[in-house]
Amino acid sequence: MIELIKTGISGLDQILKGGLRRNSTILVTGAPGTGKTIMALQFIYYGAKKYNENGILIATEENLSDLRNYGKNFGMNFKDMEKKGKIFLVEKPLTMLKGGISSIKGMLDLIKKKNIKRVALDSIIFFEYLYPKHNNSSMEFRREVLLFMQKMKRAGVTFMTISERRITDLDRLEYEMMDFVFEGLIILSRVRKGSYFERVLTVEKIRGQDHSLDVYPVAIDKSGIRILHDQIPFSLVEKEEEKQGFK
Ligand SMILES: Nc1ncnc2c1ncn2[C@@H]1O[C@H](COP(=O)(O)OP(=O)(O)OP(=O)(O)O)[C@@H](O)[C@H]1O
Ligand SMILES: [Mg+2]
Repeated sequence: MIELIKTGISGLDQILKGGLRRNSTILVTGAPGTGKTIMALQFIYYGAKKYNENGILIATEENLSDLRNYGKNFGMNFKDMEKKGKIFLVEKPLTMLKGGISSIKGMLDLIKKKNIKRVALDSIIFFEYLYPKHNNSSMEFRREVLLFMQKMKRAGVTFMTISERRITDLDRLEYEMMDFVFEGLIILSRVRKGSYFERVLTVEKIRGQDHSLDVYPVAIDKSGIRILHDQIPFSLVEKEEEKQGFK
């Protein structure tokens, strides 16, 4: 039987018809400022806080004190969870994981010792630091990501990775190599309606799992990111009406 875990992101579990498959690998991708980091923070924070699943968050772009403060804006007290040994924030993988494999072993040890169940990586740029000679499109890069992913799976964690992309217009979406590597793909985007942008989310795929294919509005406020799973983006509704000549 498939075991589903709650994501910690309000509304997302309904779209996923219960949650994420335990031990799966998910890529969350989107343009700048669409809520990717907040989503990763919530996945790790509420995973530990509400669902008793210890987590590691690897940050490549932000330093840890910025990240803790960022979490605080949305009511997440990372420091407290770190003190309790339930969450581990890792920065500068450049130095921490220097040497690649041998220090990834350090991370695997931590996973075992601290009973880690979730790992989030913000962002996939991490691999470019680790293997600078590969560029994002090479087969070696893909192989390294796959190897890392397999290690996470074998270690029994559910693994979320963030990636950036330039084109997120849902009608003109171009798939990138990484989209195929992960078992799940969630896209955060913006839809323009006149002078207004609406945040939206869609689940492109989750291998071996039934989920909704609809596009949903997303809200970000002081309680974090929420997927409005019982609503339709008004920007898209009006677009359809225009197409059908109702306007
Ligand atoms: N306190 C807040 N209240 C409401 N909205 C906020 C708040 N803080 C941030 N935001 C919104 O969230 C967005 C940033 O979300 P997040 O950091 O998750 O983006 P991101 O997708 O990780 O971006 P990047 O690719 O640049 O890292 C901001 O651009 C802003 O619109
Ligand atoms: Mg970010």
